[in-house]
Amino acid sequence: MTKYPHLFQPIRIGNVEVPNRIVHEPTDISSSNADGSVSERDIYHHREIAKGGCGLVIVGATTPDSKTGRPTVTCLVADNDNYIPGLARLAAAMHQYGARCAVQLMHPGRQCAIPRHNTMSTNDVVLKLPWSAGHEIVYANAEEKGKEVRGMTTEEVLEMIELFAEAAWRVQQAGFDAVQLHAAHGYLISSFMSPYINRRNDRFGGSFENRMRFPLAIIKRIQDKCGRDFPILVRFSVDEWVPGGRDLEESKLVAQVFEQAGVAALDLSQCIQESPGAGFDPMQYPEGWTMYASEAIKPLVKIPVINSHTLRDPDYCERVLAEGKTDMVGLSRQILADPYWAAKVYLGKPEKIRKCISCLTGCWQESLMAKKEIACAVNPACGDLRFAEMRRTTNPLRVAIVGGGPAGLEAARIATVRGHKPTVFEKTGELGGAILGCCMVPDKDKMKWYADWLRNEIRDLGVEVRLGHAPTIEELKGYDVVLNATGAHSYVPQVHGHAERVIPFEEVIACPRVKCEWYPQGSNRKARHVGERVLVWGDHYAAADTVAFLAAIGKDVTIVTEKKEFGSTVEVIHMYVLRKRFQQTDAEALHSKPYKYPVKVIQNSTLYEIGEGKVVIQDRDFNRQTLEVDDIVTCHTRPNTALLDEMVAAGLRVINVGDAVRPRNLNAAVKEGALFGLSLDEHLLFNPNHAILNDLPLDVAVQLGIR
Ligand SMILES: Cc1cc2nc3c(=O)[nH]c(=O)nc-3n(C[C@H](O)[C@H](O)[C@H](O)COP(=O)(O)O)c2cc1C
Ligand code: SF4
Repeated sequence: MTKYPHLFQPIRIGNVEVPNRIVHEPTDISSSNADGSVSERDIYHHREIAKGGCGLVIVGATTPDSKTGRPTVTCLVADNDNYIPGLARLAAAMHQYGARCAVQLMHPGRQCAIPRHNTMSTNDVVLKLPWSAGHEIVYANAEEKGKEVRGMTTEEVLEMIELFAEAAWRVQQAGFDAVQLHAAHGYLISSFMSPYINRRNDRFGGSFENRMRFPLAIIKRIQDKCGRDFPILVRFSVDEWVPGGRDLEESKLVAQVFEQAGVAALDLSQCIQESPGAGFDPMQYPEGWTMYASEAIKPLVKIPVINSHTLRDPDYCERVLAEGKTDMVGLSRQILADPYWAAKVYLGKPEKIRKCISCLTGCWQESLMAKKEIACAVNPACGDLRFAEMRRTTNPLRVAIVGGGPAGLEAARIATVRGHKPTVFEKTGELGGAILGCCMVPDKDKMKWYADWLRNEIRDLGVEVRLGHAPTIEELKGYDVVLNATGAHSYVPQVHGHAERVIPFEEVIACPRVKCEWYPQGSNRKARHVGERVLVWGDHYAAADTVAFLAAIGKDVTIVTEKKEFGSTVEVIHMYVLRKRFQQTDAEALHSKPYKYPVKVIQNSTLYEIGEGKVVIQDRDFNRQTLEVDDIVTCHTRPNTALLDEMVAAGLRVINVGDAVRPRNLNAAVKEGALFGLSLDEHLLFNPNHAILNDLPLDVAVQLGIR
């Protein structure tokens, strides 16, 4: 008898029986071929998800007209019949594992990544949405002017209705079980429906009836072309979270109107891109914060309702289904982080789920925003076919891993799974590295989910761990290869006066929770006390986290950064939320306590001199100002390279990864650690670039005398 009877109960969407209640929400993985045809990565990615047991997989944004709108540079396209064979292979790959599947049709309208010019939407507007994949700035030093968008003519609107219907027919022809219309997040259909965005004065703008005309016309034409029994799902934003935007009351009507039009299921989402926090929930958003939406809408309709956003925990999902709060649970990023979520629950191993931590560094910042293919910070296999071919070694190597942070632990995990014998040396008393700095930062507790997952895996795999031990060169000589994953540390840049007064950020956010199961036994770790007025000097995640912690405990915080804009290297939606908090307000749908004082940000500047109780700050034009502060915390970081230099000098075979190369983010650290584990080869040859030579072609291996 399963502990999750509701999760694994079948449900009908139109005439399609879905084997369970778990939906993979549409997620544009921007991994198609340049022309938008289905790639091997698309197939690998979606096959994994179907294999992992989602009952319904909705393929992400697929454009019905690539000429006028692609949401990401390599999204899927369905605007021509020559896309049908690829789509058919995609559907077959999912059907093989019992999943039902749909394609989400989406025209990005004003938020398109392609074309860069002549962008069209409901009406003329100049748009600034720096967190959107269709953001205007492309070049490193470009100033954002705003993206010019023009209103569609009535003829173009009518033509677009046809293009949607034709694309739906191709989806049906390819063998998909259903089609979904993307009517959320400020993209084209959503912008027609939105009272906030739509400023048209023809029959497609103004009243509720007029704003609904475009989606209803598309639904009607799809029914004409595909038959009324081909299920159409609609995803729309219940709350737009902007003044004058659609709210729950209007969304109740929207739901009923769609049901009357013959829609087979409703997929509830949130936001338009003016309110990105609610749409692409960063870490601050708690599990199930959107449940109010389906609770209000489900009683008004008979068709199935899917709810989504920050659903991670199977027990929680089972509960909301059991309580009738939603008919199906929708998971987007959770399935990137662990495509086997459903299978692990079904097979009685829910504790093995690697939860999505809502960091957005892999899937958003380094993928869609950077115009690259999908990645996930905690799942290096996401979108990377090399991991699908991971094999056990025939010649286990002795591997020393110096540093027990995310890069080192992920390297140890993959190396062990492959049959190698790693030893992790961690000089402190606890595994986790830089992640542990997040324990004290408000709303970053999801980072600990990942630290705990890694630590549990390392324990379950029986990896040898030597805590509180910094290895000597002599010790390391006993290993076949060494991974230097020693991370980064703070330092004090050159400054006049009392540099010794500057406190490292690591001491300020050190976690003092002695009751934590991982707290190092016998340790006396305590956070360093700081005065009321604190100056945080530096940038990036170290500074953002330190500021969030200090401001939340009531300190009067000033940031000084050399950068043009504070936090420009931190994931953009997290910075959006943080900036709102700096001003003592909250992002949409959050209700945390505003800080006691607003956080002051001084950009393009550095510390010139540190005196007693005051500092002198100098900007790029050499203007100086004096500030009274009690304490100064440095968040400048640089790689720990001392041991690396010694190892290289001693002739050890060593690879350097993560922040020990350059302080970046979790995505980079985990990926580099994982790739090290993957590249370990029994022959352990290095090429002239100091990279491990693995996967040699057989003839080259014979020529080199190793086969
Ligand atoms: C990388 C990425 C791509 C996304 N692509 C789509 C998409 O194509 N269509 C869509 O409706 N929502 C898309 N979303 C939004 C998600 O479906 C989902 O609503 C959001 O991430 C919050 O839910 P989650 O916590 O389950 O991820 C995307 C989100 C991310 C992070
Ligand atoms: S990159 Fe972060 S937010 Fe995106 S799926 Fe992975 S863990 Fe989740």
